[in-house]
Amino acid sequence: MAYNLLKGKKGIIFGALDENSIAWKTAESVHAEGGTFVLTNAPVAMRMGQIKELAEKTGSEIIPADATSEEDLENLVSQSMEILGGKIDFVLHSIGMSINVRKGRHYTDEKYDFTAKGWDVSALSFHKVLQTLYKAEAMNEWGSIVALTYMAAQRVFPDYNDMADNKAYLESVARSFGYFFGKEKKVRVNTISQSPTATTAGTGVKGFDGFINYAEKMSPLGNASAQDCANYTVSLFSDLTRKVTMQNLFHDGGFSNTGVSQDVIEHFSS
Ligand SMILES: NC(=O)c1ccc[n+]([C@@H]2O[C@H](COP(=O)([O-])OP(=O)(O)OC[C@H]3O[C@@H](n4cnc5c(N)ncnc54)[C@H](O)[C@@H]3O)[C@@H](O)[C@H]2O)c1
Repeated sequence: MAYNLLKGKKGIIFGALDENSIAWKTAESVHAEGGTFVLTNAPVAMRMGQIKELAEKTGSEIIPADATSEEDLENLVSQSMEILGGKIDFVLHSIGMSINVRKGRHYTDEKYDFTAKGWDVSALSFHKVLQTLYKAEAMNEWGSIVALTYMAAQRVFPDYNDMADNKAYLESVARSFGYFFGKEKKVRVNTISQSPTATTAGTGVKGFDGFINYAEKMSPLGNASAQDCANYTVSLFSDLTRKVTMQNLFHDGGFSNTGVSQDVIEHFSS
């Protein structure tokens, strides 16, 4: 259902790799709500992913950018303003990658080159995106910037590995930069802490099946899907949430505040 919540609003969406990506669903939903945007992803993902299909569907242009490269980000922001014909109202940072996870390195056996690279891609890149937008005066007043995170930033999920530390950093950046963006530019910055979701990044986590099924059983409303996350993100981009900023917003069907559920008790009862 569309409400025209983003009519006339312009933005940048990072991280649509394939149709399972949270950013892909968000792009479709933003389009349905009347928003226009530039799609971006790392140059390597352009070759592997299906982003062109999404661009055609949503009438969007694609600008490749490695989110760890300040030069790429500056180019992305200035070109986006040219293409969209002015300043930007919304940005989605939907980027994550751990080389330790990919290479099967345990948390107690990290290779620190991998750790540093994963942190740059998954966490520092958000500061780089914010700083680039801030310095370029690229955001309209009452604009909204959202990044995606996971509850492993607060509680231990052993196989989430160094991504837990990256997410803790990401959430802190949202608060710290959110202060300055709010005070100086009237722009809000938030993170959405999303349920486990079957995407390329999600299923890369060891034991993902057990993980997602457990969360489903623990959440009174069940897991939030990628489409649910897209809907929530649209609400945060809209004018209906203008005073929400510097928050880490749990979007998980109630998982984060549930000690134990009846389903889980039954599973362990003899
Ligand atoms: N899937 C889950 O279970 C889940 C749960 C909570 C939060 N999240 C977060 O949601 C976000 C989106 O992930 P997803 O689940 O849609 O998976 P996804 O694999 O579809 O998206 C991850 C994206 O990051 C991009 N990326 C990687 N390196 C990059 C770089 N250097 N520059 C620019 N882009 C780069 C990839 O190309 C890809 O498009 C991530 O931040 C992820 O941590 C995912």
